[in-house]
Amino acid sequence: MAKYRIAWMPGDGVGNDVMDAARVVLDALKFDAEYVPADIGWEFWCQEGNPLPDRTLEILKDTDCALFGAITSKPRDEANEELAPELQGTGLSYFSPIVKLRQHLNLHTNLRPCKAYPGNPLNYRDDVDLVVFRENTEGMYGGVEWFPLPEKIYDALCDNPKMVKWKDKGLENVALSTRIMSKQGCESICRQAFEYAKTHNRKSVTLVEKPNVLRETGGLMTRVFREVAKEYSGIEAWEANIDAMCMWMIKNPQDYDVIVAENMFGDIISDLCAGLVGGLGFASAANIGDDYAVFEPTHGSAPKYDGKFVVNPMAMLLTVKLMFDWLKEDELATRLEAAIATVIKEGKVATYDIKGRGKGDSTMDVAKEVTKHL
Ligand code: IPM
Ligand code: MN
Repeated sequence: MAKYRIAWMPGDGVGNDVMDAARVVLDALKFDAEYVPADIGWEFWCQEGNPLPDRTLEILKDTDCALFGAITSKPRDEANEELAPELQGTGLSYFSPIVKLRQHLNLHTNLRPCKAYPGNPLNYRDDVDLVVFRENTEGMYGGVEWFPLPEKIYDALCDNPKMVKWKDKGLENVALSTRIMSKQGCESICRQAFEYAKTHNRKSVTLVEKPNVLRETGGLMTRVFREVAKEYSGIEAWEANIDAMCMWMIKNPQDYDVIVAENMFGDIISDLCAGLVGGLGFASAANIGDDYAVFEPTHGSAPKYDGKFVVNPMAMLLTVKLMFDWLKEDELATRLEAAIATVIKEGKVATYDIKGRGKGDSTMDVAKEVTKHL
């Protein structure tokens, strides 16, 4: 029997391309695993009205962790049009399966390293090396939303006098998305950021929030952050507002070490950070819960490149490295990262994002080049 059982979920579009690349590298490393394919994504929405079928959730229960490629999401009307004719009008509505997975498995922590590997011509600066801790189940992406706004929700919200002004617009014209955050959720993400800083010798943790405007949710997060920070006296605790932080990340990204944020701000800042180290082609991510994790590159499914094997597999390969970290397969993690770094530095084999449109090597060529350096 293999040492690990890994759920294998390519998902949509170029998710398939980069997962093929991952497999080449996993096999070259002789990683002792059985890969269990699991259905997820657009195809299953269209055919069955469910992009995350129950049989997939069963497979996840029975595996150590999951590797995941990418997901296509479309707005409501388009999603409804592409649904199988016999399912149309049955009240089904599309949801993002990755967001659902994070919620369902309580994958509360999204870890997103952004490191400028030497020699990457796409680096904004060569000395950026930071890690984003994004809270992954609460906040603006918690999914508590309405449109139109039901009368009873409106009435309850009128407990706050600021609510009254929306009545004039007509409730049928009002949409509501909530930002619900718990003390436990805030504490968990802050603590993990500080623990990471401690174990990885990082000098600071920066909270990205907006407590001057989002006084209750942002205020709670800020208070919790300060409390947790007290327990880590050797680590500097910095605070920045999300808007200012976008500016600071362009001005002095080298100053930052560990960044912690709630769900939406973490989503935004992690794409910005990815942009500093070569773009989404280099951005890896881990969705981590108490005893399960789903590893997925930050990039989307890029439908126009689907099956063309042109996209950069480095984000996926760095994601495999995160999986090795989580499994405590330290030797494999070190070997893989070193091989990736060498291939980036040599720059001989690289995809179009580096070499220019039409001039890039294929996704698989890059993966094979990595295997040569393992
Ligand atoms: C990400 C993505 C997802 C998110 C989308 C696809 C739902 O942007 O993983 O950052 O916003 O979490
Ligand atoms: Mn995102």
